[in-house]
Amino acid sequence: MPTQSPAPARRETILTGDRPTGALHLGHYAGSLRNRVELQDTHDQTILVADLQALTDNAGRATDVRENVLEVVLDYLAVGIDPARTTIALQSGLPALAELTVLYLNLVTVSRLERNPTVKAEIAQRGFERDVPAGFLCYPVSQAADITGFRATLVPVGEDQLPMIELTNEIVARVNRMAGCEVLPQCRALLSSTPRLPGLDGRKASKSLGNALPLGAPAEEIRRLVNAMYTDPGHVRVTDPGRVEGNVVFAYLDAFDPDTAAVEELKTRYRRGGLGDVALKQRLATVLEELLAPIRERRAELAARREDVLEILREGTARARGVTSQVLEAVRDAQGLLRL
Ligand code: TRP
Repeated sequence: MPTQSPAPARRETILTGDRPTGALHLGHYAGSLRNRVELQDTHDQTILVADLQALTDNAGRATDVRENVLEVVLDYLAVGIDPARTTIALQSGLPALAELTVLYLNLVTVSRLERNPTVKAEIAQRGFERDVPAGFLCYPVSQAADITGFRATLVPVGEDQLPMIELTNEIVARVNRMAGCEVLPQCRALLSSTPRLPGLDGRKASKSLGNALPLGAPAEEIRRLVNAMYTDPGHVRVTDPGRVEGNVVFAYLDAFDPDTAAVEELKTRYRRGGLGDVALKQRLATVLEELLAPIRERRAELAARREDVLEILREGTARARGVTSQVLEAVRDAQGLLRL
């Protein structure tokens, strides 16, 4: 755990977010949540629960999105995100972001949006073909509103979000050019140093594939999912040499086992032959149970205090309203709208 560093004169502003499409899983923990817990000591951090962005491809499932807002906030609090140090805000509770989006939409062309490689891949993945919701094509613009609405300069994201940062900076440059001065700061991505955690079956971890381990999973579920993990199909007998690369159990041990020397030794034994999958999986199940037991417990406690959790989100959103409204005013002026 990082110790509280002496407050520097001015902390850098971080904005990050998640679409509330389901409870968060171990992949989120390794890829972002763990970092956020550390960053809250050194940065001015806001986490946005991006419910409007979730609606861009879930318009017919608004109830799910609404219910998942609370799930995601529970996950944040359970892993140690502290509302006193991190602002947790609800996107739909910040109308300034929606207004910024409307202004930014005029600064971006449709063909520019259609070229976004992440959006392209998502459109293919979801089978939208020609029926892409306009809001979906435009969500990167709304994301630019999220980032600039907080004057964030640092955005911790995965590689797939780099096109969003690039687009944001194009919009920032246009607004500043229009204003003739720096109204908005440029931002940069903070890429996680940990490799993306694979799904339990070796494919990309995703809620819809059901191949991810939820943070609130009970002990029996952890054991069951670990036992079903993909290892090395060529490693049939304990004495056979096994492959470590592409082996999901090792990917998880690398991500979560604090004893890295022991993991290296297991890899050597596994490669040589003589280490069975059962023993290996037992170790991983123990490691994960140690990590997740306190998270699960805290999550259950908080889930029983629904109103308190909502109050945390209400307070964070209220705090976020100040800065986002100021930014909106500045961009309205830059655009030259009439002030009444
Ligand atoms: N697009 C992000 C995701 O799918 C969520 C998100 C919304 C976000 N607004 C953001 C991320 C602003 C970083 C900054 O996970």
